[in-house]
This record gives sequence, C-alpha cells and structure tokens, in this order.
Amino acid sequence: MVDHKRYDFSVNDVSEVYAGPGGKLWELLMGEQIHVGGPEQTDLLARKAEIDKAGQNFALLDICSALGGPARHLAEKYGIKVVGLDITPEMVLEAKKRTEGKPYASKIEYRIGSGLDIPAHLNSFEVVWGQDAWCYIRDKVRLIEETWRVLKPGGTLAFTDWIWGSVSVSEEESDILMEFMVFPNLQTLNGYAELIKATGYELVEKVDLQEDFANHMDIYLNILQKAKPDIEAGFGVELYAAAEKGVIAWQQAAHNKKVGRGLWIAKKP
Ligand SMILES: C[S@@+](CC[C@H](N)C(=O)[O-])C[C@H]1O[C@@H](n2cnc3c(N)ncnc32)[C@H](O)[C@@H]1O
Repeated sequence: MVDHKRYDFSVNDVSEVYAGPGGKLWELLMGEQIHVGGPEQTDLLARKAEIDKAGQNFALLDICSALGGPARHLAEKYGIKVVGLDITPEMVLEAKKRTEGKPYASKIEYRIGSGLDIPAHLNSFEVVWGQDAWCYIRDKVRLIEETWRVLKPGGTLAFTDWIWGSVSVSEEESDILMEFMVFPNLQTLNGYAELIKATGYELVEKVDLQEDFANHMDIYLNILQKAKPDIEAGFGVELYAAAEKGVIAWQQAAHNKKVGRGLWIAKKP
C-alpha cells in the first residue's frame, strides 16, 4: 500500500471545511449529493447493494451523510428507512432543513456523531453505506469494525471512496493533494479489500472507478472555472485561486492514475 506521511488533520479541521465555504463550494461542483457522479452513482451503489429489491422496513445507515442528498434520494426512490450520520452539526442541521416537509421525511433520521463511534446498537441495519467520505476518517480499521458491529448478520456493506491509484506519487504531490482535501490518509482499492476481509466480511465486489473519476475531475474543473466570477465575489479571490490549484492537482493526478476512486460491496455472514 502507498503509505505516505501522515497528515495531521483532525475531525475538527474537516468539520470546519464543511461548516464553512468549503462545503458550499463542493455543493456547487457536485450538487447536493456531494460525491463523484451524483444520483447516478447512488443508483449504481443501490443496485449493487440490492436496495432496489428491498422492503419498506429495510434500514440503511449512511456514514458521513453531509447534506442528506443521498438519504433523500434513497428514501424517495426505494422507500427504505435511512439514518444519516455526520460529525458536522451544521451539515446535519441543513440536511434536516432540506428534508422537512418532504412526503418521505418520516423515513429519514439524522444523527450527529462519528463513524468511529457509531451511535447505534449492535445489529441495527441491513445496509451500512458511504459515498466518497471515508477518506476523511483517519482510523479506517476502526471504521470498518464499527460498520460490522451495527450491521445485521446477512447485511451488506456498500461504499465508494477516493483512493490512491496504481502509480505512486512523490511526497510533494501527496502534500498538495492531501492538504487541499484535508484528508488524513487514503486507502487503495486492494487495501480496503484486505481490511474488509480482515474484519470478517465476505468481499462480494471491488470496482476500480479510476477512469470515471478522472473524467469527473475535468467536469468539476470546468464548472469551477465557469463559476470563477461568482466564487470570487462570494468567497474571495484567494479561495478561488486555492480551489482551482487544488482541483487542477487532483485532475492531473487522476489522469496520471495516481489517485482514483473505488467501490466495495461486502456481506456480513
Ligand atoms: C464529502 S462529504 C460526504 C458526502 C455524502 N456522502 C454525499 O454523498 O452527499 C464529507 C462529510 O463527512 C463528514 N465527516 C467527516 N469525518 C466524519 C466522521 N468521523 N464521522 C462522521 N462524519 C464525518 C463531514 O462532516 C462531511 O459532511
């Protein structure tokens, strides 16, 4: 595994990003489902986790639920119950606000808390879910162990995440990429697979989404550059310049296969 220097970001640093302009900027680029590929990717993960065949009492935990975009999509489209868990109170408040009054609102509950200490009982959920966010969580061993604790036997772990690619990066490149995103560390496609299996899961599938990730980085850079006047007016010239530099670094690293994105499906026996 590519194990670069450890980055000293804490949960508070990540929360500060999402409570401030950073969260708004990511929504501008990606939409209210703040992950690569938006609703289409949510449906892809849902099919792979067989949520499309689920019953009404089926319960899913979304770890790092942010603005609740995926929670609303899943509750509305598949009729399942969703618990959204996020560490940033501002995100949870906003998720609640955006869910209030929706016809499926009673199916969704939001909790403030950490994926490293999930506020839920043993064997609570049919699916534990995450999209492009576990890269913010330093202790991935504990995170996967926590998913195991709260999943029912026979339940499914389904997630996507940003990862290191097949080509290694220099320390300098790694610094630029990680410091821009405030990631404490990243896994690899096989690293996550090994971690999942070591926890006791049966790995069903791992999918390398590297090419799609690189294509999306082009799209995000384009959206960012088009929105330059608005971003500079709303958040300042410096923030725009930092965002553009960071997105270009990720775009180039993605096209050079240095970073990517993966999808994993596993079963708790
Ligand atoms: C990229 S956003 C997640 C996007 C969301 N999965 C979606 O698809 O819309 C990252 C989120 O992770 C949350 N987060 C970071 N560390 C966390 C932790 N340890 N436990 C729970 N949430 C965390 C942040 O507050 C932020 O809202």
